Amino acid sequence: MGSPAIAILGTGSYAPEKILTNDDLSKLVDTSDEWIFTRTGIRERHIAAPNETTSQMAAAAARLAMSDAGVTAADIDLIIVATVTPDLPMPATACFVQHQLGVPTHAACFDLNAACSGFIYALDTAWAMLGSGRYRHALVIGAEKFSSVLDWKDRTTCVLFGDGAGAVVLGPTRGTGQILGTKLYTEGAHTHLLCIPDGGSNTPDPAATGARTPRTVSMKGREIFKIAVREMEEAARDILAQHQITPAQIGCVIPHQANLRIIDAIARYLELPAERFFVNLERYGNTSAASIPLALDEARSSGRIKPGETTLFVAFGAGLTYGSALVRW
Ligand SMILES: CC(C)(COP(=O)(O)OP(=O)(O)OC[C@H]1O[C@@H](n2cnc3c(N)ncnc32)[C@H](O)[C@@H]1OP(=O)(O)O)[C@@H](O)C(=O)NCCC(=O)NCCS
Repeated sequence: MGSPAIAILGTGSYAPEKILTNDDLSKLVDTSDEWIFTRTGIRERHIAAPNETTSQMAAAAARLAMSDAGVTAADIDLIIVATVTPDLPMPATACFVQHQLGVPTHAACFDLNAACSGFIYALDTAWAMLGSGRYRHALVIGAEKFSSVLDWKDRTTCVLFGDGAGAVVLGPTRGTGQILGTKLYTEGAHTHLLCIPDGGSNTPDPAATGARTPRTVSMKGREIFKIAVREMEEAARDILAQHQITPAQIGCVIPHQANLRIIDAIARYLELPAERFFVNLERYGNTSAASIPLALDEARSSGRIKPGETTLFVAFGAGLTYGSALVRW
């Protein structure tokens, strides 16, 4: 008997109430709506309340995904939270999510750090675990309180990111949403291009050096931009070739929502019309691991994904990690 076919059974998303516009940001740092919008396509982003946690956002998205899938907490036996902004360094955010949702103790719950590629990495992992037949229903969640790791005085990074969560329920297929394949990659030579250079075992001992680097994101934007376009094109082309699908046969591409100019470049390289790409970054900014599941949930609820179509997910992020996935509806 082959391994069971696994599908996305339901989706859900959550964004915090507070919206921070580009004009609001121009009061914090030397920037403008015109600069941010023309360079990135972003108009506004959601920012979590000070006491709102990544796990609470993850659980809110997960509840909607479970309801959409018609499953209850008792059905879930695996939770993977993709995040780089966990509630605490230890224990895993997924443990807080399990408790908030009332998922039974026999569930395996852990976090996964692949930055903005985190959702595709978590999808691949959960797909393999469910495919083994040892788990039946998984919550795969991308959730970030990215505002908590931004330097709000650094205009080169603070304008790009936002907070939010997206979740899917995976389980045995009911005829739609089947995962056809995933591909994961890493270019560890580029770890320094996008990182939080503090808070881990490589942090200089502040007592010895007398100095602390801030626990906020450091990024070489221009370098990342070029590599991101190359990596996303490679991840898209490889998975399409592997499944003998041409770009033109893809109904909807859901790319990581970092920058509209990156998405437009990939559309040009794949020779696809820009309309084939689902884009919501103008309202959310880059929500890191949450970006693809949040966009997927909006694409489904707005009717952008049609029965019988194939959807391509493609992402890149710190690591540098990158990857792609194909789903047939
Ligand atoms: C960050 C990014 C938008 C910058 O756009 P860019 O066209 O490369 O701009 P540059 O970094 O070359 O900066 C151009 C100028 O704008 C300035 N600038 C940077 N941020 C600014 C801001 N928010 N407002 C106004 N000016 C800004 C720079 O200081 C620079 O000024 P200078 O020419 O006087 O030195 C772009 O490089 C990018 O999106 N990179 C990818 C980042 C990414 O996606 N990261 C997440 C990965 S998951």
